[in-house]
Amino acid sequence: MRISVIGTGYLGATHAACMAELGFEVIGVDVDPAKIQRLARGEVPFHEPGLPELLVKHVDSGRLRFTTDYAEVGGWADVHFIGVGTPQKDGENAADMRFVDAAAMSLAEAITRDALIVGKSTVPVGTAARLREAIAARRTENGLPGRVELAWNPEFLREGYAVKDTISPDRLIVGVESAHAEQLLREVYAAPLEQDTPWIATDFQTAELVKVAANAFLATKISFINAFSEITETVGGDIRTLADALGHDSRIGRRFLNAGVGFGGGCLPKDIRALQARVSELGLNRTMQFLNNMDEINLRRRDRVVDLAAQLLAEDRDDDGRTHTTRTQILQGTRIAILGAAFKPHSDDVRDSPALDVANRLFCTGAATAVFDPQANANAAARFPRLDYVGSAEQALRDADLAILLTEWPEFRELDPARVAELMRTPRMIDGRNVLDRTAWDAAGVHTVGLGQHIEPRVRTVGD
Ligand code: UDX
Repeated sequence: MRISVIGTGYLGATHAACMAELGFEVIGVDVDPAKIQRLARGEVPFHEPGLPELLVKHVDSGRLRFTTDYAEVGGWADVHFIGVGTPQKDGENAADMRFVDAAAMSLAEAITRDALIVGKSTVPVGTAARLREAIAARRTENGLPGRVELAWNPEFLREGYAVKDTISPDRLIVGVESAHAEQLLREVYAAPLEQDTPWIATDFQTAELVKVAANAFLATKISFINAFSEITETVGGDIRTLADALGHDSRIGRRFLNAGVGFGGGCLPKDIRALQARVSELGLNRTMQFLNNMDEINLRRRDRVVDLAAQLLAEDRDDDGRTHTTRTQILQGTRIAILGAAFKPHSDDVRDSPALDVANRLFCTGAATAVFDPQANANAAARFPRLDYVGSAEQALRDADLAILLTEWPEFRELDPARVAELMRTPRMIDGRNVLDRTAWDAAGVHTVGLGQHIEPRVRTVGD
């Protein structure tokens, strides 16, 4: 079986390399020649553990090639996967479907034989049915030979675990309209199916919805525990113990109940907003009203970190009993170490990163911020060039008045608190991901506060 993969971003590049690993001949297609040249040299343009090795292995074996030319795959491949992005539209909640539509139409015009097109991108429900019609119309117009069918096969890979999630997924969902399409996809996924991976063949709408429902559910879980953080911050209580206790209920489960600065990345936030836009188009605003709350709770966490920073730094001020002040008055002239810029560890992705958003807000409110991320400094600097990026956690911490852990990289979790206490001007830490042993850090001389922890407000801040 010959496979083409359209789009060579996180999803497409990983899918192409993994399909080669499963034994298929694969061609990756992208409209960006620079990206294609790098991949053809065996270079992955982003950080994804395990992917560079797989790419080099299969570029060298000749099983994996790359091109910018749709014509090259149109007469060649049996199955074409579409893995291009569906970013949030500028200034709107809706997903931008330009890239998916363009990929589908380019394939419709290039295919000259029997083939199956398989959509993997996350799309608003109804897209597959719309594309089925558009592809058929374009092919009839152009009088092209071959029977082309469409299927939808959502992708659930997590950044940082993309290779594992593609080769050994939790489940495989295919939206198909014929036994032939299902059979072809069973052949593609023969290896995971041998490992008893659950297989669900369904209609287009269900397949499209599984993906957005999964992401909305995960985001709900995170915002749910973060909403309880707002309660424990007010009345006291331990959010981590609450999450552990909830998690022991096997109907709930412990995963995705880590309270902290909230979710970000290229998927969860924009997929939720795209779902809101789609249900609104369908006249179902009330059905998904809770999604608004979820997004708001998530964004309020970032605000909480900024406020907590102001509360802690206010300890250094002599306010003559003044209780009302702005954040800028407190933050100006302070130096804050920002540990983490990626939206989560094991990734260099800074799209909608809570860490960077917080760093930027602190900077805009007058603090000098020294940012360090083990992988994401370059991407972060491209997005927020005015922040100060440094080459190590120690450099960030040196002479800082406050440190904030915002991405839970193992090297931050393993920092020696005694050494941190030596480095900082005033040893104080906000644990924005609730991963540090606060008792041990306090004992080592670093006053450590977690999100969800109650602290008595020292000053009342009145805005920025
Ligand atoms: C997500 C989905 O998990 C994946 O199935 C889908 O295909 C793409 O979107 P990803 O964006 O790689 O994957 O990140 P994920 O591991 O889900 O984390 C998303 C965000 O939630 C991160 O910012 C993470 O820090 C945050 N998070 C996660 C929490 O704040 N608390 C948790 O308990 C779990």
